[in-house]
Amino acid sequence: MNQPKEIALRDVTQTFRGGALSAIGGELVAVDRVSFTLSSDPSRITSLVGESGSGKSTIARIILGLQRPTGGTVTYNGKDIFCLEGRDYDTYRRDVQPVFQDPYGIFNPFYRVDRIFWRPIEKFGLATGKARGLRLIEESFEAVDLRPADVLGRYPHQLSGGQRQRVMLARVHMLRPAFIIADEPVSMLDAAIRVMFLNVQLDFREKYGMTTLFITHDLSTAYYLGGETMVISQGRIVERGRAEDVITRPAHPYTQQLIASVPEPDPDARWTDRIEVSEQTAEVKSASRDRCLFAERCPHVKERCWKTRPAMMDVRTGHVAACYLYGAASHEESRDAAVTH
Ligand SMILES: Nc1ncnc2c1ncn2[C@@H]1O[C@H](COP(=O)(O)OP(=O)(O)OP(=O)(O)O)[C@@H](O)[C@H]1O
Ligand code: SF4
Ligand SMILES: [Mg+2]
Repeated sequence: MNQPKEIALRDVTQTFRGGALSAIGGELVAVDRVSFTLSSDPSRITSLVGESGSGKSTIARIILGLQRPTGGTVTYNGKDIFCLEGRDYDTYRRDVQPVFQDPYGIFNPFYRVDRIFWRPIEKFGLATGKARGLRLIEESFEAVDLRPADVLGRYPHQLSGGQRQRVMLARVHMLRPAFIIADEPVSMLDAAIRVMFLNVQLDFREKYGMTTLFITHDLSTAYYLGGETMVISQGRIVERGRAEDVITRPAHPYTQQLIASVPEPDPDARWTDRIEVSEQTAEVKSASRDRCLFAERCPHVKERCWKTRPAMMDVRTGHVAACYLYGAASHEESRDAAVTH
């Protein structure tokens, strides 16, 4: 039996210097000691949901190896992804595939789109001979509802945004990676194509066992996909659990406020359109983050919330929240305990 494959983030941190904050010796903490694991067994969809600027794309870039974090580790099957070489590196590049909002940037404008299929066919030996390669490409197009005649032989600028997205999905279908890292792939698509795209994503999990990290602003998208939902705020994961639980029975006061602020009748409501995001001050970003960052806005705030950062605490089976309403452990204490045991 094959060993499950695993992407593990441990205390991943990304800080940035530059801009106004540097002048006062501060830095922007985009991702703050984030830990989670994506496993191929069982395959599942995990949505990472959060407001604009909460650190979602930074996490995606780090997992894809495009950016080395300033702290923490990302491992693939136990090996640091930033130290992979040779065959291990090739395996990672094949097993973990990105899908971006509009993949225009990753198409080379001078080549026909066919090339992004032929290159992996040759590199990974997916098919022998032109006829078999073409059959493979056509099968992948069918899986995402694209007609080969509409796309093959064309240049990227000759395709619509929706077609470019589907071409990327067709490539994912052809490569059958263990993991998909999808950063806001549907936010620029109209409603009908969006639903089709999400259904293809669900199909990929069911038929081929692909595990997806699906990044979105949109709660209804996370709900539609099911699986697991992680809520991120100011670079920290504050809650995670089954999508249905997190969205219908949110535990963290931050998630509760977010969900309350999305008007019922509009399932397409984007959080950023609706929610007053309290501006992080330079002081908050540069000075003490050793506390709950929601303290200013929380109706349940206690003294402790200002002094130490809460650990992830059990709310119910398979559902955790970083909030002192559910226990007393601080982030530091729980980390020390994990190291000692
Ligand atoms: N290269 C960079 N240099 C400086 N700051 C950066 C850089 N990249 C990201 N940031 C900052 O890090 C924070 C997180 O950015 P990120 O792009 O990860 O957010 P996001 O959750 O993907 O937001 P959105 O929903 O708008 O895409 C933001 O405050 C952003 O301005
Ligand atoms: S830790 Fe304290 S301030 Fe933070 S959400 Fe929980 S109760 Fe509110
Ligand atoms: Mg982003």
